[in-house]
Amino acid sequence: MAAKGINLPQLCCLLLSVSTAVLAGRDFYKILGVTKSASIRDIKKAYRKLAMQLHPDRNPDDPKAQDKFADLGAAYEVLSDEEKRGQYDKYGEDGLKEGHHGSHNDIFSSFFGDFGFMFGGNRQQQDRNIPRGNDITFDLEVTLEEVYSGNFVEVVRNKPVAKEASGKRKCNCRQEMRTTQLGPGRFQMTQEMVCDECPNVKLVNEEKTLEVEIEQGVRDDMEYPFIGEGEPHIDGEPGDLRFRIKVLKHPVFERRGDDLYTNVTISLVEALVGFQMDIVHLDGHKVHIVRDKITKPGARMWKKGEGLPNFDNINIRGSLIITFDVEFPPTQLDEQQKDEQILNDEEFLCSFRLKVLKNNNCR
Ligand SMILES: *[C@@H]1O[C@H](CO)[C@@H](O)[C@H](O)[C@H]1NC(C)=O
Repeated sequence: MAAKGINLPQLCCLLLSVSTAVLAGRDFYKILGVTKSASIRDIKKAYRKLAMQLHPDRNPDDPKAQDKFADLGAAYEVLSDEEKRGQYDKYGEDGLKEGHHGSHNDIFSSFFGDFGFMFGGNRQQQDRNIPRGNDITFDLEVTLEEVYSGNFVEVVRNKPVAKEASGKRKCNCRQEMRTTQLGPGRFQMTQEMVCDECPNVKLVNEEKTLEVEIEQGVRDDMEYPFIGEGEPHIDGEPGDLRFRIKVLKHPVFERRGDDLYTNVTISLVEALVGFQMDIVHLDGHKVHIVRDKITKPGARMWKKGEGLPNFDNINIRGSLIITFDVEFPPTQLDEQQKDEQILNDEEFLCSFRLKVLKNNNCR
């Protein structure tokens, strides 16, 4: 048998070459768990979800966590870029290698920083001794349409970044006690400021595009933190940037929890004989409503499942509650107006005959 001839070192080489062959051509679609025809939004959604699951901070016991996260980052970097995705679709990962080097070094800052993550809103294992820049909270106004369907919003942030500059500066300053001997048996203790010398830095504005996902069903005041994107600190680490969701008022629908409320005005005729109509929903789909009974002003109709998706489980939806208002004719009608309003309302007469008199000789 041929296998008998292979000694251990050869086997190792063989395994090594097999594994590098796999690495050279990773299946980015499989890594992200999306189909080849996935839209950019599907890709972003999948990335964001997996990044939260696979982040090494969350998987301290998995020795492969770093690799998995790096694979995910690489898959996202390629598939979220139209040009790179095209190349990848044609030639696989090898086809990307030219003009595509060195971008994986900083996988954590480049990928982790570009997206908001809801790690319960707190950074992990914060070192209290390191000075931090201030957190910044930014109100992000979103429409009810975005809450209904979800969206991704790009925010361009002008962020001051510390860059090395010529010269030195004092840093890590602290108070220390100094003891000076003044004479035999006499000491003086003084407190003085002691500093280290650090390379000088200057703050340079850098433009950075942040991508915030408006998740379906997101609620007012929910926050999306971007770790380390807040104000920089020259001797420490930057604070966080938080996007706080502010849902804008909508002219047609009013949100209460996951339910949507809307008002519809119908005519007196419709109130008496029934009607059917379509309500255009937040994503443009039509909700068909039919009434064949008398509708009193203030009557309500519930449409189950036509409300907003629930934030925690988007398969659960609230209700759409329609409140009807009946438009009565103006109170003071003169005789002629009465004729016009009622007797000449062919539609009214016709429906009335149909419904009430069961006489359908309408024209
Ligand atoms: C519907 O009408 C009521 C009463 O006029 C009002 O308070 C409510 O805000 C209206 N809702 C919408 C969604 O316009």
